[in-house]
Amino acid sequence: VTGLADLADRFGTPLYVYDLDRVAAARNDLRAALPAGFDLFYAIKANPHPDVAAVLREGGCRAEISSTGELLTALTAGFRAGECLYTGPGKTDAELDEVIGAGVRLFSAESPSDLARIGRAARRQRVLAECVLRINGTTGAATGIRMTGRPSQFGIDVETLPEVLPGLLAVPGARVVGAHFFTLSNAADEAALIAEFTSVVELAAGLNRELGLPLEFLDIGGGFAAPYAVPGERPGYPNLRAELEHALDLHLPDWRSDRPRLTCESGRYLVADSGVLLSRVVNVKISRGSRFVVLDAGINALGGLSGLGRLLPVAVRLDDPGQTETASLVGPLCTPGDMLGRDIRLPALDVGDLVTVPNIGAYGLTASLLAFLGRPAPAEVTLRGGTPHSVSTVDLRRVYRQP
Ligand SMILES: Cc1ncc(COP(=O)(O)O)c(C=O)c1O
Repeated sequence: VTGLADLADRFGTPLYVYDLDRVAAARNDLRAALPAGFDLFYAIKANPHPDVAAVLREGGCRAEISSTGELLTALTAGFRAGECLYTGPGKTDAELDEVIGAGVRLFSAESPSDLARIGRAARRQRVLAECVLRINGTTGAATGIRMTGRPSQFGIDVETLPEVLPGLLAVPGARVVGAHFFTLSNAADEAALIAEFTSVVELAAGLNRELGLPLEFLDIGGGFAAPYAVPGERPGYPNLRAELEHALDLHLPDWRSDRPRLTCESGRYLVADSGVLLSRVVNVKISRGSRFVVLDAGINALGGLSGLGRLLPVAVRLDDPGQTETASLVGPLCTPGDMLGRDIRLPALDVGDLVTVPNIGAYGLTASLLAFLGRPAPAEVTLRGGTPHSVSTVDLRRVYRQP
């Protein structure tokens, strides 16, 4: 088994390391936490590394994608286009032409106009697109990163369905096969997640019964949680399976015969704890009495979605904290925004020391400001059985081509 320090010496820093065995373990844990017969979509946006995605494919996951780039990742990882669910509120004609041409057939429609656009694109290629209507319900039980349950670019407002549904069912080129809910990400705890799924199942069944919303297929969404760039374990969901079965028995009694076919989605839970980022201290300076520890990885490599202020402060693992001191942990970029932790407790770090950011396998590298300031992308190493399985670097050379 290769240690992290050895990997940093061998491949340089900053370095992302993904342990594929941990991806497989998370996948197995999540499958075991769900009722039998549930399909699981891997949200490629969480980590598009093809080896990571391939482990999920091997475990029977399908892929949730929302760009032509994610389709390419999915195909590289071994998914078939026909296994993918294509989502997103801003689908363009050109991208729909491309992905339908490549064989994608299942789409989440985020609005009536989105559904019409999908239908037109399918007709241009003389195929039928199967569509799930993403529903924006009026309430939401759980706390987490909420995506619907309020005015949103995601989903069709549930209260408009009585009026718009007949038209949606008649859109040429698009066959409405069911409903899609993705109400939140990173639910606070198991009880919150169960409450959310229960209300989704109840709402879907009611829409089917009262409005005739087709329900061959029901994607209840996700919200499975994981720590982000701080120490900690991904949660277990010991009660989810029984509680979800109970809700399904109550509201959708034929679910055990695949009526509807059921799925849910996860990104972070499946991959977060597989990844660490290794970075080295390149400089330490004192400015007017304040200490700044400068790393070779900043918000170009870490701190995905840092614009949303989700990251600060990063936690630095203190295996042997020894003496600690207060300092600001910053990256190498020429912007005061490249601040990973302001005046935080750190070990007494010196130039050349290795710093480990844990639980960064989801929304790490590709959710960061990778192209900002033109630094090369960190290498990414995958491990199997504790030893390197692949090494690669995303190519960010600034080669401008004429279209
Ligand atoms: C439609 C959809 N599915 C799945 C996900 C993955 O979320 P998470 O990584 O929290 O599981 C997202 C995240 O934004 C999403 O928008």
